[in-house]
Amino acid sequence: MAITGPQPNAWMTALPSYEPGRPLEEVAREAGLADISEMVKLASNENALGPSPRAVDAMQQAAHRMHLYPDGGAFYLRAALAEHLSVPSDHILPGNGSNELIELLGHVFLNDQAGIVMSEYAFVIYKLVAMLFNAETVTAPAHALGHDLDAMRAAITPQTKLVFIANPNNPTGTEVDHAALDGFIKSVPDNVLVVLDEAYVDLVPPAERPDTLQYVRAGRPVCLLRTFSKGYGLAGLRIGYAIGAPDLIQCLNRARQPFNVNYMAQSAALAALEDDDHLVATRQMVAEGLAQITQGLQAMGVEYVPSRVNFLLVRVGHGRRVFEELQREQVIVRPMDGYGLPEYVRVTVGTHAENERFLAALAKVQSIEPAPVSA
Ligand SMILES: Cc1ncc(COP(=O)(O)O)c(C=O)c1O
Repeated sequence: MAITGPQPNAWMTALPSYEPGRPLEEVAREAGLADISEMVKLASNENALGPSPRAVDAMQQAAHRMHLYPDGGAFYLRAALAEHLSVPSDHILPGNGSNELIELLGHVFLNDQAGIVMSEYAFVIYKLVAMLFNAETVTAPAHALGHDLDAMRAAITPQTKLVFIANPNNPTGTEVDHAALDGFIKSVPDNVLVVLDEAYVDLVPPAERPDTLQYVRAGRPVCLLRTFSKGYGLAGLRIGYAIGAPDLIQCLNRARQPFNVNYMAQSAALAALEDDDHLVATRQMVAEGLAQITQGLQAMGVEYVPSRVNFLLVRVGHGRRVFEELQREQVIVRPMDGYGLPEYVRVTVGTHAENERFLAALAKVQSIEPAPVSA
């Protein structure tokens, strides 16, 4: 890739762009549709209930203060999260989505002598961030599409600085066994940081989650990443947070931009944290939607990977073609060939009506394209 002017760092030329879920407006523009109201986007694991009404009120009030810079230290949000999680506030750093925190981990730990370990089929941003810093990615083979923690332990080398575990994982929806996770964290060398990406954890009923905060409290080299994008329905605001030891948090804090989390996001997140009813309703919507979609898939004889969160990996045969055909039916899902899963699409759990639209469109498309193809 020759460009005019100074040449980019050599490794940047190999760095692919992230392929996000396609925005409704973009698909409509391409199809020549003026109206997006008939389109259904189930492509980015967003919260189909929308944001909490309390968060919307807080944003409306915050709109009047948009001439002011936000509190870069996010004092009140960190205090509220600290109370919510029962950890001191110096263990918490908010970020511009948890994606930014993954990049900040790269700034702090990665270079051409360092590496990460991740699982096959795990969230692709880990690898993209490693590439951004010219660091090595060792990909441990998956087991039944999920993280194989023994294989990940075996993949750790003297260069490894970060091990990423997405739990639940996107795009597979798989979860690691709690006891295996515990054993893994105890077995990882102290000079390796285990990053537990818990973007979807708020969607899992609290009693059924592993207690991962215990590792931070016990001073293990563990960093938890969470987000307001999924359970709290605030993906558009870009706000997530890291939980870790104070010295880690201080390092990440030095790497961030001065005002990385805007005031509207901080205000909405504070309000959302107080709206437990919305979170409970979200979990209920997800549980009902999963039941609705999986029953529909079973009736069609279509395989899927079981999930407890707001998306499902569905084995449709030729994922990219089905994605394109669904798009013609005005239903946007996510093709999975970029993840090495060409037979699958990933569908987000939507409202009851959206899930129906997906099932009806898939039934139509499957009748055109019944035969599974191999990679
Ligand atoms: C596993 C996982 N981690 C992190 C993120 C990033 O979330 P955000 O940057 O919106 O907080 C996502 C988004 O889809 C995800 O699926």
